Parts: sequence; C-alpha cells; structure tokens
Amino acid sequence: MPLYRKLDALKSARSSYKGNALGMVPTMGALHQGHLSLISRAKRESDVVWVTIFVNPTQFEKKDDLDKYPESLEADIAAIHEIKADINIFAPTAKEMYPEGLEAKVQTLGGLGNLMEGADRPGHYNGVITIVAKLFEALQPNQAYFGEKDFQQLQVIKKWGKDRHIQTRIIACPIVREANGLAMSSRNTQLSTEDRNEAGFIYQTMLKCKNKLLDKAAVYTTIKEAFSAHPNFDLLYVLCAEEDNLKEVDDLVSANKPRLFIATSVAGVRLIDNIALK
Ligand code: PAJ
Repeated sequence: MPLYRKLDALKSARSSYKGNALGMVPTMGALHQGHLSLISRAKRESDVVWVTIFVNPTQFEKKDDLDKYPESLEADIAAIHEIKADINIFAPTAKEMYPEGLEAKVQTLGGLGNLMEGADRPGHYNGVITIVAKLFEALQPNQAYFGEKDFQQLQVIKKWGKDRHIQTRIIACPIVREANGLAMSSRNTQLSTEDRNEAGFIYQTMLKCKNKLLDKAAVYTTIKEAFSAHPNFDLLYVLCAEEDNLKEVDDLVSANKPRLFIATSVAGVRLIDNIALK
C-alpha cells in the first residue's frame, strides 16, 4: 500500500497519472464505515484513488477538542487495504502542511460559513477550506468525495469551489449510520456505551419529523420535546433550512429541498446530524 508523508513525493506520484479520473477522499482518520463508503465509491468511479489522513489543527477552535481527537493510522491503513490494496494514502505531518505556522487563510464564504457549525465554531470553515485548498492544489483531483453527514461543510466546499473556479467535481455521499440510527462519526468512540445507545433517539426523532410533519413549528416542538426526554443531551441548535443556501425556511411545504439540521452535545462530545424533510 503506497503511503506518502511528503508533498513532494505526492506531487511527483501525481504527475505520472495523465487520465481524468483521479479520485480523492479527504479525511481526518479514525476511519469508520462512513469514511469507507466514500472510499469504496471513489474506487468504483476512479482509476486512481488517494485517501488523505490528516487531523487538521486549524479547523479546531478548541485545543482540548484537538487533543482528544482519535488517531489510529495503522488501523486506518488496514481498513483501506481491505477495500483495495493499491489505494494511495497521504498522511502528512502538521509541519509538512503548515511549514509557516498553524494559520488558516480567511475565506469569503458568504452567509454559508457563519451559521450553524460556523456560528458555534468560529473560524472552523476557514480551517477546513485552508486544508482542502492545500490538498486540492497538491493533488489536482478530478473528483473529490464528501459526506452529507457534514452537510454544511459540503455546501461550503461547493461554494468555495464555484467561486474559485476549481475544476474538481465535488461528489456528495449519503450518511452511513450505526444500527440504532446514530450517524457514524470518529467522535462516537468518545461516547460512553450508554450515551452511544441512547443517541439513537436523535435519528428516530428526525425520521418522525420527515414522515409526519411539514410544519416547521411542529418539527421544532417535536425535536425539543424529544431532547427534554433525554436531558443529558444538550440541544445546541435545530434548524429547518433549504439545502442550497442553508437559509431558514418559512414554509416547509413550498420550500425547495428543505433539510432538518441538529447539533447536540453529550458529556462534552459534539454530534451533528441532518435529514432531507421531503
Ligand atoms: P472527517 O470528519 O474525517 O470526515 C471525512 C469525510 O467523511 C467527510 O466528507 C465527512 O462528511 C465524511 N463522513 C464522516 N462521517 C460520515 C458518515 N457517517 N457517513 C457519510 N460520510 C461521512 O470532514 C472532515 O474529516 C474534515 O473536515 C476534512 C474535510 C477532511 C478537512 O480536514
């Protein structure tokens, strides 16, 4: 399995591929089935696949969140190997990606970057775009795969790509869930077994909203009532917004592709989820 640590080595390997189906899957490692579904899809649709594994410090606004972020490079390599032996992995150091210090470039992301995760985690999307831009520049992927789990991230990256005339196709992949419905996340390993089991209520409640209600006030009430029945889960935000602009909708019936977004914190672990409402 080709493992690259240095940008120069990555660039020289990249230059030997002349086709137009180079797929990339950017990750922060601690891989689970959600990540692996992106990698499998990339493999199906690309001649060559690069998975990047890098816990990007500039997108963490809190040092302790960065410090406790799980890392498991050897297990990650083994999991990728099971999909296909010859997938390229790029796992650089922070010094390699940020030789001049850990600073994010300020991005103009319009309103998309300032709400929900952007409001709660100031500077988060500046950090995300900074690293995605560095990786895209080095690898020049024809297509890059991102999960709908981080729906706002996906939209922010799409907007940035459009504004900057980035040639890479951004491919959205569906959310992979645990058996109880909890969206898979590297952070789930930080939950206690009880909290992880209980967290299934988040998706079950969102499903109730999808199937029964096209009334924003009723959606918000359903969510708030469910969270009051699970008091160790803090509801950080709940929002019904249109997919494309992430603006809050007034009327779910006439809204264009409305989605329900939720963030919660349980025992200090932040969880996010979303679902299409129609
Ligand atoms: P990370 O959280 O490791 O996620 C890497 C990719 O996997 C993202 O596109 C994310 O949306 C997707 N993903 C995570 N959980 C998923 C799930 N349950 N189902 C489907 N897709 C899932 O997102 C990041 O890393 C970083 O911000 C990154 C883009 C790599 C920049 O540092």
